[in-house]
Amino acid sequence: MRKARVALFPGSFDPFTNGHLDLARRASALFDQVVIAVAENSAKSSLFTPEERVEMIESAIGGVSGASAIHFSGLLVDCARRIGAQVIIRGLRAVSDFEFEFQMALMNRRLAPGVEIAFLMPSQEFTYLNSTLVKEVALHGGKVTGLVPPLVERRLRERLNGTRAGAGPARRGGAKRT
Ligand code: PNS
Repeated sequence: MRKARVALFPGSFDPFTNGHLDLARRASALFDQVVIAVAENSAKSSLFTPEERVEMIESAIGGVSGASAIHFSGLLVDCARRIGAQVIIRGLRAVSDFEFEFQMALMNRRLAPGVEIAFLMPSQEFTYLNSTLVKEVALHGGKVTGLVPPLVERRLRERLNGTRAGAGPARRGGAKRT
């Protein structure tokens, strides 16, 4: 019997956007299992807890075959080994993504030569989209419908409501924004 092809799709996903969902769908067409892994120890300060991010991802990937969501701490390559992933998926939106992704891919390859890194391009309509922009727009009361899954839109509204009313930043881990 053929061994299941397992892809690990890691990220901060703070929050998961429709660009991420587009990539998860593309990965699902190529692999038997796509494990979307929320990094707990990302260098970025986060608006949502890892558990909240996983919940939002799970609600978005209902129709995506073979997709699941977890959170992890420590090295990405250790997570890949733990779940038996042969491939790490990363999205490339524009040339500006390339340098960081290239460095990270080569470091991960050095750490785990047996794990392949594959880049997928999202649909053109999502090439400008990232989680930071979504948070910025939502924070100032802009509409994010169509940019994020419905539950993410709802959670953003709930989380950022107090912030807009002048209650101070509603994000965890300090005021650093990336
Ligand atoms: O969505 P992001 O913030 O671009 O994702 C970056 C992420 C979480 C994939 C990266 O920071 C990561 O892999 N973190 C886990 C720790 C690790 O393995 N770092 C070394 C990467 S070379």
